[in-house]
Amino acid sequence: MKIDVVTIFPDYLAALDLSLIGKARQRGLIELAVHDLRGWTSDKHRTVDDTPAGGGAGMVMRPDVWGQALDEVLTDDAVLLVPTPAGEVFDQRLAEDLARENHLVFACGRYEGIDARVAQSYGQRVRVVEFSIGDYVLNGGEVAALVAIEAIGRLAPGVVGNPESLVEESHGAAGLLEYPVYTRPVSWRGEDIPEVLLSGDHAKIRQWRRAQALLRTAQRRPDMLIERDEPLSMADRLTL
Ligand code: ADE
Repeated sequence: MKIDVVTIFPDYLAALDLSLIGKARQRGLIELAVHDLRGWTSDKHRTVDDTPAGGGAGMVMRPDVWGQALDEVLTDDAVLLVPTPAGEVFDQRLAEDLARENHLVFACGRYEGIDARVAQSYGQRVRVVEFSIGDYVLNGGEVAALVAIEAIGRLAPGVVGNPESLVEESHGAAGLLEYPVYTRPVSWRGEDIPEVLLSGDHAKIRQWRRAQALLRTAQRRPDMLIERDEPLSMADRLTL
């Protein structure tokens, strides 16, 4: 998978050298390039923004500078990803969908955002996804791009060692929050690991974990039980 990021703050993306995604890059599973948008400016001050048409606060990023950058970075098979609080919600389903793509290009806006003609114009050539990582406003798209790249990158084939861990985790294929997890010591500050987990009875453990995942989801995220693709089994319903 190839990922390009265009930003005026390339240093923000340095965290992608670390951890699982950093290792995936070293192993050649993810090819990541971060580009400084100012490299495509042509004036002395390397200007990337201007005042909003129609007035109002803040600055808007210029379409001509973005056009120069994206004409160079976007290939015909790429998906253009634009982080914006006005975008569709970025969730595990979108991450799974994007993990199947060959080439992702992130266009990170700052200030009041990027001139709307950029997404509109490239939408005639490639798939464009304007996405939001949640109902709050960040200062720019870089942190949202980091979030998306980590969520998508770990789903790329070979990045996570044991693909089974992708099924049981919260928002994984089970469509539930993950059950609580424990490790040694067995007793800590007067609290013990639930006995069933030490029993060695794998069928019982599976049952207990399923029940915990269901109860947790019902308490914390009832919306996930309502919006499920597959209805719950009778056994699951009885658990609740
Ligand atoms: N840019 C600013 N806020 C954002 C958000 N919540 N999601 C994605 N991009 C953003």
